[in-house]
Amino acid sequence: MNTYVTGVTIKQLREKQQLTQAQLAEKIGVSSKTVSKWETGKGLPDITLLHPLAQALGISLIELMNGEHITNRNISANMLRCKFYVCPLCGNIIHSTGSAVISCCGITLPPLEAEEADGDHSITVENVEDEHFITVHHPMTKDHFISFVAFVTSDRIQLVKLYPEGNAETRLQLRGMGRLYYYCNRHGLFHKKK
Ligand SMILES: [Fe+2]
Repeated sequence: MNTYVTGVTIKQLREKQQLTQAQLAEKIGVSSKTVSKWETGKGLPDITLLHPLAQALGISLIELMNGEHITNRNISANMLRCKFYVCPLCGNIIHSTGSAVISCCGITLPPLEAEEADGDHSITVENVEDEHFITVHHPMTKDHFISFVAFVTSDRIQLVKLYPEGNAETRLQLRGMGRLYYYCNRHGLFHKKK
């Protein structure tokens, strides 16, 4: 986690819970003046208060620290709305079926937003027996390469890791409707509907 809880976060979450400063203060055993100080950047809550503060605001400690409220609706999650996160330092690839606070190498990673394939990142899909042969027309040098290809349908994901100086191609079983994703280490995530 790269930040401590901020006054802005406390204020936003308190207002979301429709609590007054006095009501929040009472729940965690401080004065309303103390809450006011936190919210106006004139002080920060002691670390021992973070857990009760998160409880009073109805969120988890990690969400409080991150300043983000995550509503997890995984019960009805559709894999088509899954998210990819890639660490810019170590290249770690993380896949999640719903929103999450993901941190790698000390950095909180944003969910990647996929763009439509462009001329420098075009993809070809050919039928080969019962599989599909995927080729991304892109360099595979050490500095600029396709790091993975994934095919996501409503109930499953196939992910293939690719490596610099290898080929930007793989075979996948493209069963059903889904979405092909591929990631360039310099230009980000691309997708193509199948
Ligand atoms: Fe690229």
